[in-house]
Amino acid sequence: MQKRKQKILVTGGAGYIGSHTIVELLDAGYDVVSIDNFSNSTKDTFTRIKKITGVVVPNYVGDVAGVALLERVFKKEKYIDGIIHFAALKSVPESVADPIRYYKNNIGSLLSVISFVKKHNITQFVFSSSAAVYGDITKLPVNEKTPLAPPASPYGATKVMGEMILQDVARAVPELKIAMLRYFNPIGAHTSGMLGELPLGVPANLAPVIIEAASGVRKSVQVFGDNYKTRDGTCIRDYIHVSDIARAHALAFRFLQKQKSCCEVFNLGSGRGVTVLELIQAFEKVTEIVVPVTIGKRRAGDMAAIYSDCRKAKKMLGWMPRFSIQEAMQSAWQWHLNLVNNKHPKRPLK
Ligand code: WQD
Repeated sequence: MQKRKQKILVTGGAGYIGSHTIVELLDAGYDVVSIDNFSNSTKDTFTRIKKITGVVVPNYVGDVAGVALLERVFKKEKYIDGIIHFAALKSVPESVADPIRYYKNNIGSLLSVISFVKKHNITQFVFSSSAAVYGDITKLPVNEKTPLAPPASPYGATKVMGEMILQDVARAVPELKIAMLRYFNPIGAHTSGMLGELPLGVPANLAPVIIEAASGVRKSVQVFGDNYKTRDGTCIRDYIHVSDIARAHALAFRFLQKQKSCCEVFNLGSGRGVTVLELIQAFEKVTEIVVPVTIGKRRAGDMAAIYSDCRKAKKMLGWMPRFSIQEAMQSAWQWHLNLVNNKHPKRPLK
């Protein structure tokens, strides 16, 4: 009898990284189901996933913090072999303004998912973590053994706590195999041009802001400070194509399937530091569009520089980033043009 496909539950499957990960999981031969409440995404994302993959991914609408929904999913799906937990609030400035909402949502949803995993003996769990856990580190590049500095925001703190919770659960449940993936700065869109970041509301991240300045949605990119101790005075980050991050999740499950028991952290970055001005120049180079720039004050909470040592993911997951920042910015621009041409509102309101 033919061995059935492994089925992965993706919480937050309609989100930016979640949707790109679903495409890569399907491509790697997994079955996928999703839970998403569309609080920061739209259900149209599943139509786009079907256009790319030919697969209709079932999505259960609701808040993953509610265990009843998880029970309903499990009953309907009969079996789930692994879970990727993306569903979380992720805006740094918003978390500073409303910390209780962030702790309640991000920790609450993780606790309900991990208690469900334990109850139903699901043994493979991938956690969506972030480079935000490192805090303001001076010794670069950061690797998975770099001691963490205090997180710069409640959002970052929820990721630190999430990792601590999972390390404790892994110790208590030896048969559970966990991979915690620390994303650096995800940018770009699927090469098909049919999937990308939906900046719902006003984007805060640099890449969508560049797109908005290039398309006239905003007058210019306000560069938050050009007097940092870096090669051009602007902050350094590690930008990584969202599809490279997505592919790492499929490789993480292949890794977990071979383990008896584990709880491993992996950096997902390009391993290269890029300044704000260099990312803007990369966009200008591939699109031949001049991006208006104004130099503003520093943004509270920003660190001067952070970028990854991502050799562990290469060694243990067999993962290698494939896209350059030029290709990432090109794909982001193409996705924007497709959104505009499909008359998709420039800023689909929440
Ligand atoms: C990058 C650089 C800004 C906007 C955050 C989270 C991180 C992850 C990615 C979730 C900084 C500068 C930005 C602008 C600017 N999210 N900038 N003008 O802050 O590195 O990371 O998003 O996991 O956890 O912390 O990303 O894109 O906001 O900023 O000059 O209009 O671009 O100062 O140096 P960040 P970002």
